[in-house]
Amino acid sequence: MRSLSTHHPQKLLQTRPPRPQSHTGDGELEIRIERRPSLPSRRRDSAPAPPPHRADRKARREANMTTIRRFCCDDLLRFASVNLDHLTETFNMSFYMTYLARWPDYFHAAVSPAGRVMGYIMGKVEGQGESWHGHVTAVSVASEFRRQKLAKKLMNLLEEISDKMDKAYFVDLFVRASNMPAIRMYEKLGYVVYRRVLRYYSGEEDGLDMRKALSQDVEKKSIIPLKRPITPDELEYD
Ligand SMILES: CC(C)(COP(=O)(O)OP(=O)(O)OC[C@H]1O[C@@H](n2cnc3c(N)ncnc32)[C@H](O)[C@@H]1OP(=O)(O)O)[C@@H](O)C(=O)NCCC(=O)NCCS
Repeated sequence: MRSLSTHHPQKLLQTRPPRPQSHTGDGELEIRIERRPSLPSRRRDSAPAPPPHRADRKARREANMTTIRRFCCDDLLRFASVNLDHLTETFNMSFYMTYLARWPDYFHAAVSPAGRVMGYIMGKVEGQGESWHGHVTAVSVASEFRRQKLAKKLMNLLEEISDKMDKAYFVDLFVRASNMPAIRMYEKLGYVVYRRVLRYYSGEEDGLDMRKALSQDVEKKSIIPLKRPITPDELEYD
């Protein structure tokens, strides 16, 4: 979410399911992704739905056997297909490597049985006192694997690390004001718009700074919305 050149987060971003996860012991979480039950037709005379396209069936099979594990250096050479998306902001290698080295607990990949990177999340923990918080720098899922709760699982994982391990007060992220799918997802995950950052993205589009309070923030003070928009130079963190 943050750009190197402007020192402002450029985007982002973001799941844990009803806990069907088991820890494998070496930092890997084996995750079975639940299939959505098919809804019965409201109309008795409606035609049966066409069978899913072969590629869709393959994507669903793979998503059903997803492993969420720490992102590793090699993944940098294999995640280009996830980044092929105009809403997914990409960074240079040294930016990714810095995150990997400094905040490895905040960088995870969702990987198919064949080893394909289906999606990822990267973030960090920063701030002081009651501003100590987890930050989602980027979250993205390849288009063929969307709406199968991968982003939700990745987000939930980052939130749990911020909450339980780092005892952060909240998690925040920046999202383009026009990126409604992502905004809907964050709202569903419990994030609220804390403030609007004017012309945050490349000096053009506004960004929404969204936050979710964690258990440390008992009074939920961190998510009381700011009454006025701010400009990027007023941001506390890069
Ligand atoms: C946003 C994004 C990460 C969501 O990934 P995903 O794996 O499809 O999301 P999930 O399946 O975990 O969605 C969880 C919930 O979020 C909401 N949601 C997700 N995508 C949505 C969409 N396109 N429209 C409306 N709501 C959406 C839904 O409520 C969904 O639950 P449901 O499927 O039971 O209705 C994905 O669309 C993406 O990679 N987009 C491009 C990059 C991007 O915009 N990243 C965020 C930048 S800030």
